[in-house]
Amino acid sequence: MKIWIIGASGMVGSSLLRLCKAQGILVVGTGHREADICDLKEMKRQAHHLQPTHIVNCAAYTNVDKAESEQSQAFLVNATGAEHGALAAKEVGARFIHISTDYVFGSGQHSPFKEEDLCHPINVYGKSKLEGEKRVLDVMPEALVVRTSWVFGLQGKNLISSLLQRFFKEKIMQVVSDQQGKPTYCEDLCEALLFLLPFSGIVHFANEGGASRYAIACDLLSLARQKGLAVLCEKIEPVLSSQFVTLAARPSYSVLDTSLYAKMTGQQPRHWLKAAEEFLLHV
Ligand SMILES: NC(=O)c1ccc[n+]([C@@H]2O[C@H](COP(=O)([O-])OP(=O)(O)OC[C@H]3O[C@@H](n4cnc5c(N)ncnc54)[C@H](OP(=O)(O)O)[C@@H]3O)[C@@H](O)[C@H]2O)c1
Repeated sequence: MKIWIIGASGMVGSSLLRLCKAQGILVVGTGHREADICDLKEMKRQAHHLQPTHIVNCAAYTNVDKAESEQSQAFLVNATGAEHGALAAKEVGARFIHISTDYVFGSGQHSPFKEEDLCHPINVYGKSKLEGEKRVLDVMPEALVVRTSWVFGLQGKNLISSLLQRFFKEKIMQVVSDQQGKPTYCEDLCEALLFLLPFSGIVHFANEGGASRYAIACDLLSLARQKGLAVLCEKIEPVLSSQFVTLAARPSYSVLDTSLYAKMTGQQPRHWLKAAEEFLLHV
């Protein structure tokens, strides 16, 4: 087995690269500069050069708000680029694993989204990622699309890291209470990706414990106090998302059902708070 990780300098890509190396898996990671996913010729050239058995696409245009004004760039990377990755995999007979998002779903449902549920993205990022899923599976029906949500890790801007930073600076914090999702620890996602390497189709992976951003903030604050972190925050107030206008709309509910993942792999995702406990050891 030899894995080629595209987008290996991002939050998920760099964690996956580390994990593969730690597990003794033969792995090569390329960043934007070494292999631009928008350049099909280059992708195919790299595939021939590297001869991977598996390609994991961690490259994406991930700035949800900026995507609203950079629609063509978001689609170029998340849809055309994803298709290029699958075509490069096909060229050398490698398996293709593509990462997608809970934002392919829109609002309107109030029970965890299953893989076959109707996708109705409400922002450009979600639309471009859904188009990417479709193109990957059109080009290579045996590819795997792993949808995940609210990923947190040491690198990059994410919900859990941002909350932690605010705990140290703000005495009274306001956090949105009308958006629910499932936080996912980057390290857990990468372990799941390795379990999923042999599979095809669409599958959801997230940590357990779907909750509102506000409820997540409250649980995280309790945990931070329990662990003896010198937080300044004394109180978290729930607010409506309408009071925090963002360029891109976010779904009010995008909790992923992960029962198919458990059935496929025999693995049960742990609760995000348990994962956050481990994460706090590294911050
Ligand atoms: N983070 C989340 O909360 C979350 C939630 C759900 C799903 N996901 C999905 O998880 C995957 C990984 O996301 P992430 O959080 O690790 O994002 P990230 O930290 O923003 O990493 C994305 C990587 O893609 C690279 N990239 C962008 N354009 C490229 C191109 N044209 N060619 C090659 N590489 C390119 C970026 O490199 P440069 O920075 O050098 O451009 C960056 O290293 C993505 O598919 C994302 O949609 C993430």
